[in-house]
Amino acid sequence: MKVSRRVMGRLLHRRDLLGFAGAAMLSFSCPAAASTRTLRQAAASRGLLYGASCVSRDVAANPAYAELLRRQCGVIVPANALKWAALRPTPTTFDFSGADELFALARAADAKFRGHVLVWHEAMPDWLRQLRDPEEVRSALGAHIAAACGHYRGRMHSWDVVNEAVFPDDGRSDGLRETFWLRRLGPGYIAEAFRLAAAADPSALLCYNDDGLSFGPKAVGQRAAVLRLVERLRGDGVPIHALGIQSHLETGMDFRAAEMRAFLDEVSGLGLSIFISELDVFDGSIRGSVEARDAGVAATLSAYLDVLLAHPATSVVVTWGLSDRYTWLNDTPRGRGRPVRALPYDDALAPKPAWTALEAALAGAPGRAASDH
Ligand code: G3I
Repeated sequence: MKVSRRVMGRLLHRRDLLGFAGAAMLSFSCPAAASTRTLRQAAASRGLLYGASCVSRDVAANPAYAELLRRQCGVIVPANALKWAALRPTPTTFDFSGADELFALARAADAKFRGHVLVWHEAMPDWLRQLRDPEEVRSALGAHIAAACGHYRGRMHSWDVVNEAVFPDDGRSDGLRETFWLRRLGPGYIAEAFRLAAAADPSALLCYNDDGLSFGPKAVGQRAAVLRLVERLRGDGVPIHALGIQSHLETGMDFRAAEMRAFLDEVSGLGLSIFISELDVFDGSIRGSVEARDAGVAATLSAYLDVLLAHPATSVVVTWGLSDRYTWLNDTPRGRGRPVRALPYDDALAPKPAWTALEAALAGAPGRAASDH
C-alpha cells in the first residue's frame, strides 16, 4: 500500500538525503528519532483530539505505561471499566473503581475522558442477561444510564451510548442486530438510550459506535444500514452528535478511499462529527520480518488516516490501546503464537514506525476548529 504524498513529503523533509523507497522503509523503521512532539500535541496542532483506550489493571501495574498515556493522550478511554460486566456486579450495585482510576489519570494529565459503552450486547453480567420482563429491562437500563452518566456529569467528553447495533446479516429490514436489547425492548431501545444519556449528562457528546465500516466486502452494506439508523434518529430529534468508526484495520485490507470519502460526506451531512474510535492494525497478512510488518502497519495507518483526517468532520482519533503489550488482539486467536504489531508502541514501550505514521498523519491533517468539549 503506497505511502501518501503528504506524509512522504514530511518524511523526506526529515531524510532529504534518501530516495523515496529508502525514506519509506528507513523513516517508518526508525521512529526513535521521532520528533520531540507527542501524538497529543500533533493532533491538537490541527484541532484534533488524540488518545487511547486502556485497562486500569495494566496502568496500575506499569508506571512507565501510565506516564506514556499521560504524555501522549489528550483523551483517555476505559476499554472495559464502564461496560456493564465491570460496572454492575449486581442488580443493585455499581463499581466505578476501575473507571475512577482512569478518570484520575486523565485529570492528572489534563486530558479528556470518554465513556465506553452504555449499551452493548457483549460484556453483560449474567443477572442482566437473565432478565425476561421488558419493563424490568427498561427499568435496569434507565437506572444504569442515569447512574453512569450522572457519576461523570459535566466531566465526560463523550459517551459511546450504543455500540454495534447494526448487523444486516441478521436480515431485518431496518438492518439492526438481533440482540438482547432488541428482543427485550424493540428497536426503540437505541433512541431511548440516547435520550436517557442526554437527560443524565447534557454536556457530553453522544456517539453511536460501530465496526465493519472501514473496509471489506460487507462495508458498503454496513455503512448504508448505519446511515439509515442515524437518519432515523436525527429525523426523530434524538440527541446524537457523533458516529464512532471503530477502525480495527488489517494490513492488505481492501480499503476503498472514494467510497469512504462519500460515506464521510453523508455522515457529516447528517450533522454528525466523526470519531475514529478504536484504531489499530492487525498485521496477519505479512509473514515477513518485524521490520516488514511494522512498515506494513505504518503504511496502512498512513493511507487510512490520509482519507479520514482530510475530512473536516473528523475530530477525534483513539487507538485501541497504546502499546502492543496490552492490545486486545493478544487475547484472540489472531494474536496467539506471534505477538501482533498493531499499535504506536511495542511491548517494551518503544515507539514504532506506526508512531511515526500516526504523528505525521495527525500533524499533516488540514486544520479545523477544535471541539469545545
Ligand atoms: O476482568 C476479568 C477477569 O476478572 C477474569 O479473570 C477474566 C477471565 O477471562 O476476564 C476478565 O475480563 C475480560 C475483560 O476484557 C477485562 O480484561 C474479559 O474476559 C474479556 O472478554 C474482555 O475483553 C474486552 C472485549 O472488548 C470484550 O469486552 C477487550 O479487553 C476489549 O479490548 C474489547 O474491546 C472491544 C470494544 O469494547 C468494542 N469494539 C470491539 C473491541 C475489540 O473486541
